[in-house]
Amino acid sequence: MVFVESIGEIMKINIKTFNDWAIADKDLDMQRGHEAPVDFMFNLVSEKTNVFKNDFSFLDVGCGNGWVVRKISKLQKCILAEGVDGAPEMINKAKRYDSKNNYYTEDIEDWIPNKKYDIIFSMEVFYYFKDPQKIINNLVQSLNSGGVLVIGIDHYAENIPSLNWDKEYNISTNTLYINDWKQLFLDANLNNIAKVQYGESNDWQGTLILLGNKKT
Ligand SMILES: C[S@@+](CC[C@H](N)C(=O)[O-])C[C@H]1O[C@@H](n2cnc3c(N)ncnc32)[C@H](O)[C@@H]1O
Repeated sequence: MVFVESIGEIMKINIKTFNDWAIADKDLDMQRGHEAPVDFMFNLVSEKTNVFKNDFSFLDVGCGNGWVVRKISKLQKCILAEGVDGAPEMINKAKRYDSKNNYYTEDIEDWIPNKKYDIIFSMEVFYYFKDPQKIINNLVQSLNSGGVLVIGIDHYAENIPSLNWDKEYNISTNTLYINDWKQLFLDANLNNIAKVQYGESNDWQGTLILLGNKKT
């Protein structure tokens, strides 16, 4: 794991990079780029599960500036929407835009939620984790029975244009194959696992989306 010194604090390189992005307002470009795959992910959740049919609680893991928390919290059946991110400047922005929902500054690799949710969602975060299985297992523990875990990632071994992002963006990535990601969901004992790629074009393989239900 790579750490860097920032204003007298030691931050993980990924968190430091995104903290800088928040200061430079690059979170807004990221938001625009992620909107279509995120909409697709929620359509998939509607299609494959019943979680949106009843009152539901929602957690965004690696929420950035909180745009997905704000979006989901507007749904009538949403009774709780929260976001967690390691970059303090991302969370400062989220709190500035939104005083209604809860946002936490935490390093997700050392964090276990203290409540349970019906939907745990994450966009473009999981390949930053050294041990994604540990995080998935922790999050499954934090799902209500029948709850859904849905993640989207653009960096994976088959998606060749994403493989130089370490150098291009000053980040540290954990590069797995599509079937490795699916196996992490299987090993977390999730049910009804769906694996979909969204937005493929030319050599870009699209956002890899994985969804699974906690057994009832
Ligand atoms: C590519 S951004 C995606 C942000 C948001 N999900 C979106 O779609 O706009 C990745 C986010 O993961 C966060 N992150 C990376 N590693 C983290 C860690 N170990 N703990 C907490 N957050 C982390 C970064 O701070 C950043 O905000």
